Amino acid sequence: MYKIQTLNAISPIVHEALSADMYTVSPEEPTPDAILVRSAAMHDMELPPSLLAIARAGAGTNNIPIDKCSEKGIVVFNTPGANANAVAELVMAGLLMASRDIAGGISWVKENKDEKDLGKLAEKKKSQFVGPELRDKKLAVIGLGAIGALVANAAAQGFGMNVSGYDPYISVAHAWALSRAIHRADAMEDALKNADYITIHIPLTDSTKGMINETFINSLKPGARLLNFSRGELANTDAVKAAIASGQLAAYVTDFASPELADTPHVVCLPHLGANPGKRGALRRNGRRRTAGLSGARRDPQQREHAGNCPGHSGGQPRAGDPQKRARHREQHLLFDRRPGHKHPEHAEQEPGRQRRHRAGIGPEPRRYPAGRAEQAQGRGTRPPGVIRRAVS
Ligand SMILES: NC(=O)c1ccc[n+]([C@@H]2O[C@H](COP(=O)([O-])OP(=O)(O)OC[C@H]3O[C@@H](n4cnc5c(N)ncnc54)[C@H](O)[C@@H]3O)[C@@H](O)[C@H]2O)c1
Repeated sequence: MYKIQTLNAISPIVHEALSADMYTVSPEEPTPDAILVRSAAMHDMELPPSLLAIARAGAGTNNIPIDKCSEKGIVVFNTPGANANAVAELVMAGLLMASRDIAGGISWVKENKDEKDLGKLAEKKKSQFVGPELRDKKLAVIGLGAIGALVANAAAQGFGMNVSGYDPYISVAHAWALSRAIHRADAMEDALKNADYITIHIPLTDSTKGMINETFINSLKPGARLLNFSRGELANTDAVKAAIASGQLAAYVTDFASPELADTPHVVCLPHLGANPGKRGALRRNGRRRTAGLSGARRDPQQREHAGNCPGHSGGQPRAGDPQKRARHREQHLLFDRRPGHKHPEHAEQEPGRQRRHRAGIGPEPRRYPAGRAEQAQGRGTRPPGVIRRAVS
């Protein structure tokens, strides 16, 4: 039985994905084998010696002390892409909010709700909230990962924008997913040049922290509209405020609330809504992967990619060297691997005994586990290989 501690509220789907006969999942767990976390900050947390793995239900891992985990041999998984559609949809709303002062307009109507002839007054005042259409405007998408690729495609195909994308490390899968209408920029400056709208979809790292600074903003076309749905810390708030005041930025829309920006005109701060699509949609579609990165780690090639600090694990190759590390590695594999047919420690103990008894003619044929879909497709699984060979020839 493996013990999993949750540091945040995690979708109940986790209980479907991690069956109760093999896993206990609870927020109170003094000696967890694994931790499931969303946004809880783990940097100052004492990592229990029992801990084998941490799965982050989300893309970034900046709330997890990766170096400390690597030193202690704790595998860290993330689930980039699991909520990509939910974020991308919100970014599309962000583009509209960056164009017209929708938030300001809604507030104005609420403030004037007691006016007798509100309709007529609105007709007089509405000019202060108007803005440009998106069609044929130039959009720069910085970072063409799971979210950036969806945004680029939707903006080009849905809104009729001219989209340039910049991502020096783009994955083959995301490159394939991009519409042909997206222009590839070889340098960030090429994408930013003359862009009317800029949207940032890159991870927060030491090198990207504070990248939206004075220099970055001054390299934009005057009156550009900037969206940051990645991380609040990517932006220097003083630089953003100054740029809004001078008109260098016409609007800044972000999914990260900050007290410095909350009251600034032409700034829209959302309360981190991107990753919270509600019960249906992404949760249902991606729930298993999103909440149960642990159990899916070996089955799902995408999950294997996301064993962030320990690629050896994801490949399933035992490490050479320290026997203690090898034992730990094996434990981690047992924790991750729930494929049908996989030998859980309890089964692993039973199976050789059954085989021995069967060979000695004193027991029934050993139980065979149902084949996985991949094995069935290849004709492997429940039948011994010899039988298959004879059947084929
Ligand atoms: N607002 C939210 O609720 C929310 C939800 C999920 C993710 N996010 C943020 O969005 C970011 C992107 O998420 P994703 O799922 O698309 O991740 P992803 O890993 O699929 O994509 C990130 C992309 O950024 C690219 N990149 C990295 N550094 C770059 C740089 N310096 N310049 C240009 N491109 C660079 C990478 O090559 C990658 O393709 C995450 O890191 C996370 O911080 C926010």
